[in-house]
Amino acid sequence: MNRTNVTVIGLQWGDEGKGKVVDAIAGHCRYVVRYCGGANAGHTVTVGGEKFALHLIPSGILHEGVHNVVGNGVVFDPAEALEEIDALADCGVAVGPGNLHISRAANVVMPWHKLADRLGEEALGKGRIGTTARGIGPCYADKASRSTAIRVGDLLDAELLREKVTAIAVVKQRLFEALYGYEEPLDAEAIWRQYRDYGRRLEPMVANTGAMLRRAISAGEPICFEGGQGSMLDIDHGTFPFVTSSSVTACGVPAGAGVPPRAVGRVVGVAKAYTSRVGAGAFPTEQDNEVGQLLRERGREYGTTTGRPRRCGWFDAVAVRYAADLSGVDEVALTLLDVPGALQTLRICTAYEIDGRRMEDFDASSVTLARVECVYEELPGWGADIGQARRFQDLPVEAQGYVGRIEQLLGRPVGIISVGPERDQLILHHTGLEMLR
Ligand code: IMP
Repeated sequence: MNRTNVTVIGLQWGDEGKGKVVDAIAGHCRYVVRYCGGANAGHTVTVGGEKFALHLIPSGILHEGVHNVVGNGVVFDPAEALEEIDALADCGVAVGPGNLHISRAANVVMPWHKLADRLGEEALGKGRIGTTARGIGPCYADKASRSTAIRVGDLLDAELLREKVTAIAVVKQRLFEALYGYEEPLDAEAIWRQYRDYGRRLEPMVANTGAMLRRAISAGEPICFEGGQGSMLDIDHGTFPFVTSSSVTACGVPAGAGVPPRAVGRVVGVAKAYTSRVGAGAFPTEQDNEVGQLLRERGREYGTTTGRPRRCGWFDAVAVRYAADLSGVDEVALTLLDVPGALQTLRICTAYEIDGRRMEDFDASSVTLARVECVYEELPGWGADIGQARRFQDLPVEAQGYVGRIEQLLGRPVGIISVGPERDQLILHHTGLEMLR
């Protein structure tokens, strides 16, 4: 195993607080790399009371001397990225070729991808996925189709870009008309000009990021791979079809960043002390009642990207264990532990049953998960505010017991515990990350 690198992934349905965990690790790394997803991600980092909502730019951007990489596996929306770059500049964080590198091979989210996302979801009605409407699925679909895809490198060649945009716009127009009766014309010339201009602004930051990272690996420079979304939203291993369109687990790192599998390093799986989910799809431990309501309000569970209220429920040790096994998680970062303690009694799902029989091998299919019954174990809440705790022993004994039970059920240590949104509201527990000690 590569001992200098760290991969941080989500073990639930996204919004686990990965941004904060990456932020804690980033300052000790030379590179922070996004390898999947796009502007559908929403990483909130709070520094000095100021909130930064990052969607495309890696969470290492707030640290000086860190190279932030948008890998080839990301679907890159230049309009979003430039907006974020400008917003960071307004907050005094300069972003440029010294700290941001965008893969030439990343696929570009075009206006027709966002349109297709919206029109497709509307047409599906009740069967819709509940996407973030950021054009993610349609962009990955074009990547797989190849002939209708545009890569970041294409933005830098004005004439090639014009040819591609003109040809693809015709195809998309026909499709939209035929599928959805959408007749508004796509102005290929205006789109071309806009994306050419984006290319001009971004050019200094566009690079062969795979080569850059492989060089860093040879030199032993520490890299943090930053996952987007959560394992249960993985295109292959999640609750299909209610998933996102990329490989978000640690298994996605090599292909999405252009590095060998060994480069993944130590895998930190991030899980909330309860569960949340945005969008449609099965959610076995969901509490569509006052418990869910309390978790949503205390946990401020409203989407960073879309503002949608998140569905909330109990900690699901079955799903998290599956996700941890899938990515070979070495340690868990347990976040938002300050949220569920207010309840008198907490529940953890320890097993699933279908038709009265234990489900032995986890089956992530949405159809199966919609049928499972959860077996719960009850644990006492702790009432007290734990936002000031900085050592494990500062936590009420009930909170310690809750963490200990999660370690047992997951079969791996809880390395880091987060007890609030601020950078310093962190407890180092059984972490094997030498850099944090
Ligand atoms: P898409 O990624 O926009 O296509 O959305 C597909 C599904 O993934 C929807 O249920 C979204 O709500 C969910 N999703 C995508 N990105 C995130 C995220 O960063 N956090 C939580 N859910 C997400």
